[in-house]
Amino acid sequence: MSANHVDVAALEAVAPLYERVKTVIPEIEWPVHASDLAAINELKKEKNAVILAHNYQTPEIYHCAADITGDSLALARCAVDSDADVIVLAGVHFMAETAKLLNPEKTVLIPDLDAGCSLAESITAADVRELRRQYPGVPVVTYVNTSAEVKAECDICCTSGNALAIVESLGSDRVIFLPDEYLASYVAEQTDVEIITWQGHCEVHERFTAEELEAFRSGHDGLTIIAHPECPPDVLKTADFVGSTAQMHDYVVKERPAKVLMVTECSMSDNVSAGIHDVEFVRPCNLCPHMKRITLANIRKALETLSPVVEIDAAVADRARIAVQRMLDVGRSQMTGVSAQRDGGSPLPEREITSQSASA
Ligand code: 13P
Ligand code: SF4
Repeated sequence: MSANHVDVAALEAVAPLYERVKTVIPEIEWPVHASDLAAINELKKEKNAVILAHNYQTPEIYHCAADITGDSLALARCAVDSDADVIVLAGVHFMAETAKLLNPEKTVLIPDLDAGCSLAESITAADVRELRRQYPGVPVVTYVNTSAEVKAECDICCTSGNALAIVESLGSDRVIFLPDEYLASYVAEQTDVEIITWQGHCEVHERFTAEELEAFRSGHDGLTIIAHPECPPDVLKTADFVGSTAQMHDYVVKERPAKVLMVTECSMSDNVSAGIHDVEFVRPCNLCPHMKRITLANIRKALETLSPVVEIDAAVADRARIAVQRMLDVGRSQMTGVSAQRDGGSPLPEREITSQSASA
């Protein structure tokens, strides 16, 4: 179809979905999404597929195509609960690997295999083996932002939503925590457990500075600053609240600050603000180029072709799964980050924005 051609039938089919995103997607842009969205919603039924989307996906994916949305922890948990035959992970590769580890018998698709992560790139399985050699007997906690090969060398996984609870669950006075140095130091501030860190950083969150946030604070009376724990320590000290993407989402939904700055990836503010009209969003943000590789067009193609599939070597998967499963087994009451379920397939009007976090 040419760029100028409007698919009227598709536009009609997805018209109710526009209500969900009308404050963040200009009306003139909406027709661009109609044909892919209509096709995706049909393909999901045809293939018994479910779309799990991370909070950093763009609003047309997050609000109009996804069945489940949330942070890394929520997506991992929901992957276990799903009875679909096909899981499409609208997020980055380590998230798709986690879904595959928990659903070895299912087809797990990631619309772009090159959707990586600077944290996952920062460490290899050989690096973990060397750390174990240097610190014999010290348990190794890996942030979920790592490859399956790295997870296979570690004792337990964690996410930004449960890192402290996981570290403390081990009953050890010393823990190796990798690869995010800033998340590790944030956890270290809250526990007596000695934390041995690795120098991995998120290329998106490490770019924020305390100075820029202070400048925003002086320019905006009554500004509430909430930050992701992948940010540098001085940025976290400047923030009024620190949490995973689900915890940031819930902070805004529940606390309703008059004016908020979410120190994280750009789509977070778009997605949260689409359903909340009594909060002013101040928007300095950094884009994650990996998250932005996922589009409606490649989600549609993935569903049409049932590819690219996520594959993990069976021996690696068996060991990596243990680390992920141990994380899920640690008392849910200590953690937050469980997603609200979504109904991206059915054309409903504007949705009530509900909590993504829950203690179970
Ligand atoms: P969350 O688990 O908090 O969603 O974080 C994932 C991530 O990659 C943040 O950069
Ligand atoms: Fe990785 Fe950072 Fe992108 Fe999250 S925002 S996927 S940690 S590069």
